[in-house]
Amino acid sequence: MKAPLHIHELRGEALAPWLDALGGLRIRVFREYPYLYAGTLEYEREYLAVYQNARDSLVVLVTDDAGNALGAATCLPLAAEGPEFREPFLKAGMDVAEVFYFGESILLPEWRGRGIGKLFFDRREAHAQRLGYPVTAFCAVDRPDTHPQRPAGYRPLDGFWQSRGYAKQPGLQARFVWKEIGEENQSPKSLTFWTRQWIP
Ligand SMILES: CC(C)(COP(=O)(O)OP(=O)(O)OC[C@H]1O[C@@H](n2cnc3c(N)ncnc32)[C@H](O)[C@@H]1OP(=O)(O)O)[C@@H](O)C(=O)NCCC(=O)NCCS
Repeated sequence: MKAPLHIHELRGEALAPWLDALGGLRIRVFREYPYLYAGTLEYEREYLAVYQNARDSLVVLVTDDAGNALGAATCLPLAAEGPEFREPFLKAGMDVAEVFYFGESILLPEWRGRGIGKLFFDRREAHAQRLGYPVTAFCAVDRPDTHPQRPAGYRPLDGFWQSRGYAKQPGLQARFVWKEIGEENQSPKSLTFWTRQWIP
């Protein structure tokens, strides 16, 4: 029998006790290809504080019976994020105030393939819909198919995202900086946004 899971929807101060668990999850999951992120809890606390402080943000957290964090998905109004997130939309002439941004979906590998990724989209989309946003968006790192770290049998998530009604927008590219596993220093990485329009 599968162990029962608990789904929490956290906002504002309710996030405070979970910040380090969330940061730890991000570090663990994004260490893997395609992000190869060599993260630190210090940076994670700063990054996640934006979600704690932003009006209308939401974190969907999955825990087991013992209260261990197994996965999470985050979202907030794009307008509440930093300039590096907003700039691609501004450059493309889009109204940042209309975009609800999905920060990440992360799940420990042993819990994947059970529909939690779909639940993460369902919950965040319902939240964005309740708030009346006409566009939801997220971004993903650009990696060539020939990347030396790509594991054999790696399955990109593009098909899943398309099935959720999202389209890749090559005109919406961001550059974020992080230290990659094996890198001496931080370096810029290119990410492309995916968007979905919601018809009122
Ligand atoms: C994104 C993520 C949370 C999805 O979680 P999940 O619970 O496995 O997703 P689901 O079980 O809801 O499956 C959703 C779809 O993803 C696809 N999928 C499932 N397992 C997959 C795998 N191992 N690799 C690639 N795609 C997979 C399938 O298309 C599935 O739809 P289907 O069941 O109709 O075929 C998880 O894969 C993850 O943590 N990935 C690493 C972090 C990441 O890259 N996040 C996205 C960018 S922030």
